[in-house]
Amino acid sequence: MSAATEDQAQAASAGHDEETEGAGATDLEKVTITYDDVTPRNFVLASIVFGIVGMLVGAIVALQLAFWPANVHSMLSFGRLRPLHTNAVIFAFVGNMVFAGIYHSMQRLLKTRLASDVLSKVHFWGWQAIIVSAVLTLPLGISQAKEYAELEWPIDIAIALIWVVFAINFFWTIAKRNEKHLYVAIWFYIATVVTVAILHIVNSLAIPVTALKSYSVYGGAQDALVQWWYGHNAVAFFLTTPVLGIMYYYLPKAANRPVYSYRLSIIHFWALIFIYIWAGPHHLHYTALPEWAQTLGMVFSLMLWAPSWGGMLNGLLTLRGGWSQLR
Ligand code: HEM
Repeated sequence: MSAATEDQAQAASAGHDEETEGAGATDLEKVTITYDDVTPRNFVLASIVFGIVGMLVGAIVALQLAFWPANVHSMLSFGRLRPLHTNAVIFAFVGNMVFAGIYHSMQRLLKTRLASDVLSKVHFWGWQAIIVSAVLTLPLGISQAKEYAELEWPIDIAIALIWVVFAINFFWTIAKRNEKHLYVAIWFYIATVVTVAILHIVNSLAIPVTALKSYSVYGGAQDALVQWWYGHNAVAFFLTTPVLGIMYYYLPKAANRPVYSYRLSIIHFWALIFIYIWAGPHHLHYTALPEWAQTLGMVFSLMLWAPSWGGMLNGLLTLRGGWSQLR
């Protein structure tokens, strides 16, 4: 495990100072780093607020499924509130939590402050503005009708721009790090930042016809394939890889012991990102998608079992005999 993860120092206040040796520094050189803990804290607060909203909407759509008269108005109907629920819990609740975890842990793993306070602020407020625009447009029925990619083209462009801001801040922070070794958590974060950008841009390619209406550049079975390549890998690279990275930082730290197998973490990282990306067609079984593509998706989904259990077992075995530490 890297020296960074063994470091027990936790930020207790908005700014947290830590002394460390700079990369290539002699024993005599000491660098004082003031971590930015305001940005992660803001993301946590936003996650809690949108988590409450998103799950409340989840409870409403559950009621509407069981009791149809609860669909009181078209703007508050199941068809419009369901995407609001999924967008809110995935991109607002988990998204904000993931940004908090990445920004908080990467500073400690790389022994450096986030590269730019301005970019951190633009990222935070830009992401919240995108969520608010989803809350306004989805109940109005402004939608591309692609699951987890419903938001219309101007919001899609905003998502791409804010993601680029995040990527610059992220890679810039890596570039100015004081810790040579890139701990496995950082690799999971890199996979997230790069792949989500590719998935979002490719699946959102569309021709705008009005200010709030566009048509996908893909058609028919191709559209379905691109959509589920995106949808499946949104779960992989927005919900899974960042959370695995977060697990690899916080779990050994909370349990106060090294990760069970660092070698396993590297192997299941590469296996996961190579295999996950091919499994999307399993969302399109028994459809017009060519059978060979359905079979490919099915086989890769079966193979995915190994790397997904690899991460789960590495986490559980790290805690073996040490669950009491988590209390
Ligand atoms: C109070 C908590 C929650 C409630 C009551 C709730 C309720 C619901 C309901 C009723 C649906 C629609 C099911 C359907 O169309 O058949 C749904 C879908 C969904 N929810 Fe939630 N939910 C909750 C929390 C969450 C959380 C925390 C997440 C993820 C972080 C989440 C992610 C999703 C997803 C991805 C779908 C779409 C599933 C699919 O199409 O296969 N939900 N939820």
